[in-house]
Amino acid sequence: MTVFVTGGAGFIGSALARDLIDQGKEDVLIIDKLTYAGSLESLKPVSNSPHYHFSQTDICDRDGIGALFTKYKPSAVYHLAAESHVDRSIDGPADFVQTNLVGTFTMLDAAYHYWRALEGATKESFRFLHVSTDEVYGELGPEGLFSETSPYDPNSPYSASKAGSDHLARAWHRTYGLPVLVTNCSNNYGPYQFPEKLLPVIILNCLKSKELPVYGKGENIRDWLYVEDHAAALQQVVASGEIGETYMIGGRAERTNIDMVRSICKIMDKKFPEKAPHEDLIRFVTDRPGHDARYAVDCSKIEAELGWSQSLDLETGLEKTVDWYLENLDWVKAVAADYTQERLG
Ligand code: NAD
Ligand code: DAU
Repeated sequence: MTVFVTGGAGFIGSALARDLIDQGKEDVLIIDKLTYAGSLESLKPVSNSPHYHFSQTDICDRDGIGALFTKYKPSAVYHLAAESHVDRSIDGPADFVQTNLVGTFTMLDAAYHYWRALEGATKESFRFLHVSTDEVYGELGPEGLFSETSPYDPNSPYSASKAGSDHLARAWHRTYGLPVLVTNCSNNYGPYQFPEKLLPVIILNCLKSKELPVYGKGENIRDWLYVEDHAAALQQVVASGEIGETYMIGGRAERTNIDMVRSICKIMDKKFPEKAPHEDLIRFVTDRPGHDARYAVDCSKIEAELGWSQSLDLETGLEKTVDWYLENLDWVKAVAADYTQERLG
């Protein structure tokens, strides 16, 4: 048995692929274009396993993707490949429309043509999991939570392209009967996150005693989940989720950005007391255009129906994440040499 993980050289996809391969229950074909955000360095811990397979393929390449379905005959597809960074989507939305919309269409189209030719139990058990974000629901005021029935209201080119991809996934189930499931998760943090996202930026800038850029007043709120808990949730949805359903995934850990930054600073103060207080490095900078005020997720459906729950509280997860970056600066240099030079000097 083989499962596909698209975007498996990225942050969440590699966490999922490492976990699946470690469990050794099935072969894993990682499909990844290896954009700036993807690196085989993130798969090194499992790349010698007999269960590890890799194909450098663009998810927009219909012939290439079709050939992979024919060759590997997957029992499930975890579709994570995407352009994922909101700031980049504001500066250059074209890649987001291409990969997130056209790429998702291509994956669904290839999966459908493969699935409809299957028979019996193999056809029955096939699943296509479309992995998405809470950002498709727009922003919340001070009260309330996003749930599976929240209306779509995306605000950035990134979230609009992800919203469109969710609609495509749902339509391929409703119209063609493809066994699709959709998940919408809140902000992930943890090891192997590309150093353009908030947490690695703050950790690595603290290390270099560089300014810590906080957009606007730092009052925007995100809900944070440790990446390995997200990977576990995705496996649970494929194993026992109901076809056609959506599952919200979150950490029940809402924090303002400034609180998150201060938490990292405190951890760095303990590790490098000679440089304390790292908070002195905080700088409030120009806000992100269209910056959503608050995201928060009601994940009671996946908890109640599939028995998923997160394993790590935020404070423990943050300590672990800081430790990982401090111990893996070679990974940072390997994946982001140009980027870190530009950002960290
Ligand atoms: P990431 O940017 O770290 O990784 C994306 C991966 O996709 C990279 O390896 C990249 O090379 C690959 N990729 C990009 N374009 C491709 C293409 N055209 N063909 C093949 N591969 C391509 O992203 P991430 O943070 O790991 O997010 C993974 C998925 O989870 C995305 O769909 C994202 O929308 C979703 N998500 C992310 C978060 C989060 O907090 N990071 C939260 C909820 C949902
Ligand atoms: O909510 C899920 C989403 O979380 C995912 O769908 C996206 O793929 C993922 O990138 C993430 O989006 P965010 O925009 O929330 O993540 P980011 O790390 O870019 O920013 C987190 C918050 O911190 C956001 O409010 C913007 C702010 N920020 C970010 C950076 C990079 C700063 O204040 N300073 C920074 O330097």
